[in-house]
Amino acid sequence: MPTETVYGLAGDASSEASVTRIFEAKRRPANDPLIVHAASADRAREAAREWPAAAQRLAEAFWPGPLSIVVPRSALVAEAASGGLDTVALRCPAHPVARALIERSGRLLAAPSANIFTRLSPSHAEDVDPDIARMAAMILDGGPCTVGIESTVVSVMEGIIRVLRPGDVSISQIRGLLGDRFGEVVEGPGPADPAHVSPGLFKRHYAPKVKTVLCSVVQSPFALLYGSAPSQGTQIAMPDDPAAYARDLYAALHRLEMMGADLIEIERPPHGPEWAAVWDRITKATSD
Ligand code: TXA
Ligand code: MG
Repeated sequence: MPTETVYGLAGDASSEASVTRIFEAKRRPANDPLIVHAASADRAREAAREWPAAAQRLAEAFWPGPLSIVVPRSALVAEAASGGLDTVALRCPAHPVARALIERSGRLLAAPSANIFTRLSPSHAEDVDPDIARMAAMILDGGPCTVGIESTVVSVMEGIIRVLRPGDVSISQIRGLLGDRFGEVVEGPGPADPAHVSPGLFKRHYAPKVKTVLCSVVQSPFALLYGSAPSQGTQIAMPDDPAAYARDLYAALHRLEMMGADLIEIERPPHGPEWAAVWDRITKATSD
């Protein structure tokens, strides 16, 4: 299904069988938890055993939208969906097709990004891997995703707010909303969190199949440019605005893959807080 972030591979979140098939199709390790999608905040709350005040504030401010909130899991969600964890990541997507599908199914839908584990997430229906497409009942084409990278993941447990994965909803927006009334807002997983709850700790993630490197001076014909002008038809000039860059990133990398790139270079975009989510994804795409 399309969402405003990336396409998701959706199945009934309450069904162990359905969730197991999602893991199989993605070739994803069973301990890497999925995100559960609901049509409304009220439906999402049913998937939560506890619903902290901070979760309510975040949901009111950012749902429907590109934010996933990690809370204690209720019995409505299959244990397998959470990779065996006692918690669940919940999200109310904004995309009208996702919302219609969830509403009409009358279910909570577990939906990880519709990519093979560690590969690029699809931000266009045609970028869904054929191996995933074969396992799916259908692909709902909802057009290009407007955000283009996966949701911000934030956990709100034990009086501390942790941004586990940066995304379109920024840490400063979260700090601005919550202040320190609900506990400190920090970046990254806690010392006690298992490695797999942090998307960042899977080093190579969201990566093209071919070797991809960051560079200051582009030499490869297959490159994402920032600032410099394309000197060859196969180079792609990226937008200079961080949200537009994020929107185009996976589609551009897909295109270079499809053109038969043997080495992809990414010309470094600027640093700064508004570039945090882009830097997270390009760092993962270029680590080996
Ligand atoms: O934008 C998105 O979030 C997309 C669309 C389809 O909604 N979905 C997505 O799902 O990116 P996925 O499965 O590719 O990423 C989910 C990540 C996991 O890798 C994990 O790091 C984190 O979210 N996560 C999920 N459940 C968690 C939990 N209970 N505790 C901590 N992290 C969790
Ligand atoms: Mg993913």
